Amino acid sequence: MATDTLHGEQIEELRQIAGEHLFMHAQQTSTWRDEGLKIFTKGEGSWVTDIEGNRLLDMMGGLWYKASGYGRKEIADAMYEQLMAIESPPAPGAAISTVQLSGKVAEKYHDKKARIFFVSGGSEAVETAVKMAKKYQHLTGKAGAFKVISRRYSYHGGTAMAVSLGRNGAADPMGPEMPGAVHVPNFYEYKKTHSADPMENAILAANEFDAAIVHNDPATVAAMIAEPVSAATGIQVPPKEYWHRMREIADKYDVVLIADEVITGFGRLGGWFGTDVFDVKPDITAVAKALTSGYAPLGAAIATSRIAEAFDGDDSRTFKHLITFGGHPVAAAAGLKNLEIMEREDLPGSSAMMGKYLLERLESLYSHPIVGNVRGLGLLAAVELVSDRDTKAPLPASAALAKKIPAKLYDKKIISFRAGDIISMCPPLIITKDEVDFLVGALDETIGEVEAELGI
Ligand SMILES: Cc1ncc(COP(=O)(O)O)c(C=O)c1O
Repeated sequence: MATDTLHGEQIEELRQIAGEHLFMHAQQTSTWRDEGLKIFTKGEGSWVTDIEGNRLLDMMGGLWYKASGYGRKEIADAMYEQLMAIESPPAPGAAISTVQLSGKVAEKYHDKKARIFFVSGGSEAVETAVKMAKKYQHLTGKAGAFKVISRRYSYHGGTAMAVSLGRNGAADPMGPEMPGAVHVPNFYEYKKTHSADPMENAILAANEFDAAIVHNDPATVAAMIAEPVSAATGIQVPPKEYWHRMREIADKYDVVLIADEVITGFGRLGGWFGTDVFDVKPDITAVAKALTSGYAPLGAAIATSRIAEAFDGDDSRTFKHLITFGGHPVAAAAGLKNLEIMEREDLPGSSAMMGKYLLERLESLYSHPIVGNVRGLGLLAAVELVSDRDTKAPLPASAALAKKIPAKLYDKKIISFRAGDIISMCPPLIITKDEVDFLVGALDETIGEVEAELGI
C-alpha cells in the first residue's frame, strides 16, 4: 500500500481492521481502539512518520532496539541479496550470513572463542541461556542443579519460563512458576534499598544472591541472571563493584553467570556489551534487539568456550535445543550489515559520548521541583518524578502521569514508552546534539505543564 497517498477513509479502515483483529502486545485494546491506533509509515535516522504525516523523534529506539537508526538502505539491500540467494537453508546446514554473523559476534565478545546459539528474539535468548546453563551443570558434575536465581521485577521476556524469572506483579497469572525460579530483591540505586551509602547499597544488593544460593543449597543452583542495567526497574545503574561481586559469587558456588543483555548488548551503554562497561565476564550472554537494530527478528545466547566445550562429545552431550527460525539467514544478513555500520560509525563510542551529553542536559531538569532523579549510562537514561525530593515519595495516582506524559510528549513530537513516574529514554545511537536538545526541551515543557496542572 502506498502510504504517502493514504486519505482519511483508508486510515479509518485500517484502524477499524486493527480494532477488530489485532492484539497489540501488552496493551489494553479498548484504550488504543478508542483513541485510534497509532500507525507508523516511515522511518529515517532517529525520526518516524505516523499515518497522519506527523514526524516524531523516537526517544525509545522502537522498543529499546534501534541502534543504527531507521531507514538504512544498505541493510535492506543486504537482506534482499540474501533472500535472492537462499532465503532459508535445509536443516542439516546453515547459510553463509548465519555463519559469518557467529564469527562477528564472537569477535566482539570478551571470549573470542565463544559459540553462538541463534534464536528469534530476546525471550528465546533467555530461555536458551537458562537451558544451556542447566545442561552445562548436568554435564560437568552438578546434575542436581536446576534452580535459577533472578532479581524480582526484572524483565527477562514474555515466554512462560522468562516470566517466571521476572516475578513481576504486572505479569499475567500463569499458575505455578517454573520450578526452581528463586527471586532476590533487585538493585535500586536511587531508592537505596539496602544502605544509604551507594557502595554498600550495591554490595549488599549483590550479596542477596549469595544468601539465596546458600539458603537453597548451592548444589541445586544452576545459574543466576541479571541485566547489566535494568530497564524494567527504571534504569538502575550499579557501580562496577556490584558486577564484580556477582562474578565472585558465581565463581564461589560454581553457578553459571548469565547476563541478560537483550537491551544493553551492542552499544547501548557505551561498549559493545554492557558487561564490558562494568569490566565483568559473564559465562553466557543473552542478546537480541540491537543485534539487527530491529531490521529483522534475531536473538542469541552467547556461550563462552568453557561452557560450549562441555557440549562436545557423544550424543548425550548434544544441546538438544531447536528453534526453527533461529539465526534465519535474512535476519543474519541484517545483523551483519548492522554490526558493520556500528563498527564503521563507532556507535558504541557515540553512545558513550552522546550519553554524557544527554545526562548533562537532563540535569537541567532539576530546576523542576518534581524531578527527583536523573540517571543513565550510555544512551540509556531516565528521569524520575516525585512529590518530595527528600522522601522520594511518588506523585499521587490522581496526577495520572502514565496517561498524561506520553500524550503531552507525542504532541511535542516525541515518542515515549510507558512514561509515567519514570520517563525512560533509549534513543537510536546515531542521535545528534540538536536532537538531544529537542528531546530535553520537550521534556522540560512537559514536566512544566504537569507541575502547572498540579499547582506546583
Ligand atoms: C532485558 C530483556 N530481556 C528479555 C526481553 C525479551 O525480549 P523479546 O521481547 O525480544 O522476546 C526483553 C524485552 O524487552 C528485555 O528487555
